[in-house]
Amino acid sequence: MERLKVLLVFGTRPEAIKMAPLAKELQGRPEFLCKICVTAQHRGMLDTVMENFGLAADYDFDIMKKGQTLCGITSRVIEKMEEVIADFRPEVVLVHGDTTTTMSAAIAAFYCGCEVGHVEAGLRTGDKCSPFPEELNRLVTGDVANIHFAPTENNVKNLARENITKQVFITGNTVIDALRYTVRPDYRFESPVLREVTADGRRLVLLTAHRRENLGEPHRAIFRAVKRLAEEYPEVNFVYPVHPNPRVSEPAHEILAGLPNVWLIDPLDTAEMHNLMDRAYLIMTDSGGLQEEGPALGKPVLVLRTETERPEAVAAGTVKISGVAEDAVYRDARELLDDAEAYREMAHAVNPYGDGEASRRIAEALLAVYRGGKAPEPFGA
Ligand code: UD1
Ligand code: UDP
Repeated sequence: MERLKVLLVFGTRPEAIKMAPLAKELQGRPEFLCKICVTAQHRGMLDTVMENFGLAADYDFDIMKKGQTLCGITSRVIEKMEEVIADFRPEVVLVHGDTTTTMSAAIAAFYCGCEVGHVEAGLRTGDKCSPFPEELNRLVTGDVANIHFAPTENNVKNLARENITKQVFITGNTVIDALRYTVRPDYRFESPVLREVTADGRRLVLLTAHRRENLGEPHRAIFRAVKRLAEEYPEVNFVYPVHPNPRVSEPAHEILAGLPNVWLIDPLDTAEMHNLMDRAYLIMTDSGGLQEEGPALGKPVLVLRTETERPEAVAAGTVKISGVAEDAVYRDARELLDDAEAYREMAHAVNPYGDGEASRRIAEALLAVYRGGKAPEPFGA
């Protein structure tokens, strides 16, 4: 059998974390010739993930710029993709999720006559402008793709509403595969700060915030709520690995720096982050990935957004949409810090997003479509 030539394209931290287990799966199987192309839409945060998972890029566009714009990212990715496709001539290009790297790489592959596979397909809020620009990025990518790897049945329903019903596989989310590589009960933190905050017996609230539509006043309101919480709960540690975007880090430091129980730290590498989540009491976030990882680790998650494309864990009762208003965020966190019963109700491990076998299912689905192999069993069946 001729080896299936697959090009994985990704550029930001979350795509890298979620593509890493798939890269390892495909590169470890003799049926595939799999190369990795990074756009480096993120530079430092991407490199950390590559190092964590022992991955090497075959192609690197190195496009990141300070203050980069969506149009700038899009044009740089599309132009450079053409050269890579001409060089490697993949049978299928795999992209992940909803970033501007994802959408641009998918369009470029389509223009160059390549098949496109979409990993983490079918997530939708139904509002083209929220999250911005991710909802449009995934709509376009879904339209372009020939093969769709949907994490959940709900995602398949979303695709069906757009008449996307062919070559759709329910695989689970590869982020749960990634947790299998990183989370260890006996994990020893490299960072002295993390060793300190996880060893002192105090409860730990983990915060992340970076979403484009929350830049400005929504982030400031979230940070003010966290400041109030930190002042009222001096016995709780609040840890925030701050996104390097200056439009996030500047207000974060302005509002939260100097509080003795608030730790504003650099972005963490994947193993440190996943194990910190595993030790946290509560997670507050506007991130997509943390909404999947928190429930898998049995941690309540307050979502600092007004909507979510990940309703499965909300339905399971482990994730709550808090919004971006200072009082609402403050109240929801207080309830979980004060009310043991409310906390217990949310803190049960559920895995609506995967069972750690998504990468294997994606590999099998690719062989089913392109080499006549047997289709994988759907996740959750
Ligand atoms: C991007 C994605 C978003 C994803 C997020 C994950 C788009 C439009 N947005 O948003 O969907 O949730 O990544 O984190 O694709 N920076 C650095 N070093 C880094 C990474 C970023 O300094 O390693 C700074 C740069 O100044 C850069 C800025 O952050 O200009 C913003 O990065 P960008 O990729 O444009 O947007 P994100 O908000 O990170
Ligand atoms: N993450 C990390 N270090 C950090 C913050 C986040 O490794 O300091 C991981 C997190 O565990 C998850 C992913 O990055 O796997 C989520 O990325 P992000 O929140 O930047 O993007 P989103 O998921 O919102 O697209």
